[in-house]
Amino acid sequence: MNNFVYNNPTRIIFGKDTIRELKSQVPEKQPVLMLYGGGSIKRNGVYAQVKRALKSHRVVEFSGIEANPLYETCMKAVADVRRNKVQFILAVGGGSVLDAAKFIAAAACYKGKDPWSILRTHGAELTTALPVGTVLTLPATGSESNGSSVISRAATAEKLHFTADCAFPVFSILDPQTTVSLPRKQVRNGIVDTTVHVMEQYMTYPAAAPLQDRLAESILQTLVEVGPGTLRNPEDYDLRASFMWSATLALNTLIGCGVPQDWSTHMIGHELTAFYGLDHAETLAIVMPGVWTHELKRKEAKLKQYGKRVWDVRTAREAIAKTERFFNALGMPTRFGAYQIDADEAARKVRSRFAERGTVLGEHNNLTPSVVAAILRSRA
Ligand code: NZQ
Ligand code: ZN
Repeated sequence: MNNFVYNNPTRIIFGKDTIRELKSQVPEKQPVLMLYGGGSIKRNGVYAQVKRALKSHRVVEFSGIEANPLYETCMKAVADVRRNKVQFILAVGGGSVLDAAKFIAAAACYKGKDPWSILRTHGAELTTALPVGTVLTLPATGSESNGSSVISRAATAEKLHFTADCAFPVFSILDPQTTVSLPRKQVRNGIVDTTVHVMEQYMTYPAAAPLQDRLAESILQTLVEVGPGTLRNPEDYDLRASFMWSATLALNTLIGCGVPQDWSTHMIGHELTAFYGLDHAETLAIVMPGVWTHELKRKEAKLKQYGKRVWDVRTAREAIAKTERFFNALGMPTRFGAYQIDADEAARKVRSRFAERGTVLGEHNNLTPSVVAAILRSRA
């Protein structure tokens, strides 16, 4: 196991009727920006609960954060933060709203000329941001308990991430009841995204980290156990609660401690969202089986371990097939064909982007732009 620092500062407040805790968690007397998306929180009662809890706070609202949040929209919120001397940002919604809040919090304190640099440098020099608290309504990204944010820029069709210690939320409220209103598609997306988060911290090579392996496998086993059920029975609280907690633990930095990681599926997936507008999880389901198949020899030991422990199969290829079938059974396609996207064209576009940026991916740094192109062509 490699050396690591584990320092997750986010307080998680989990369970039924926990939104009322906002009253004591959000600082009073200072202006608070309440950030949300396109209106789901107004329809499912979350908005009313938040407003009730904050009735003695000074709340400024900013709505309209889109899925795959746009830099252009976030910069309008930054102007509101400055104008109203906001000292705290409360994000209410899914990963997109949470990610937008983190970027707005960082951009509002940014002293340089061009806040897009925060994303271009992936947060390398970021040390200050306003405090962010969250009320999560969509289990998927883990954004409620990590220091990462992914922002898109309409003008250039880019989608980039940043990660910084100062971007961890100070608290996150997770009430599984708020997720009952999710459309099936978003639940499906959340299960797939969570699965891939575990995989990108697990599916590399043995690293003498048996506890990390077991933690990862137990999240995967839980997803296999509760995922299909929570899709079918959204009102079953216990299933939804287990799924929600799985999504948080999958990407709160715990299972990645001291082990090699391979974020190539996510990095390639972000380009596919930027070019074609596919949902984040849709891109992952296409790419990951391709990365695994291409890297079969290098990942074989872990693929076999996963296959045996999670699916009770013997070979690496069977483990890949089981994973694809799991996604398909949730209603998630794993090929470009399902979206009428030309795999050759996608391969060309992503290859030239990565070549421009000098991007090389994978735990062995062997996925060059042309290897990525070959992987994408194999997913027609
Ligand atoms: O905008 P509203 O009206 O709120 O509707 C949203 C949105 O249309 C809706 N929704 C959310 N909660 C709901 C609900 N509808 C009904 N009931 C509820 N309880 O769901 C739609 C999708 O929401 P979004 O926040 O976009 O989804 P998700 O949570 O999957 O976030 C995706 C974004 O997170 C990034 C992705 O790249 C993408 O931009 N990621 C962030 C990560 C991180 N910060 O660590 C890691 C991930 O790998 C990922 O890259
Ligand atoms: Zn993801």
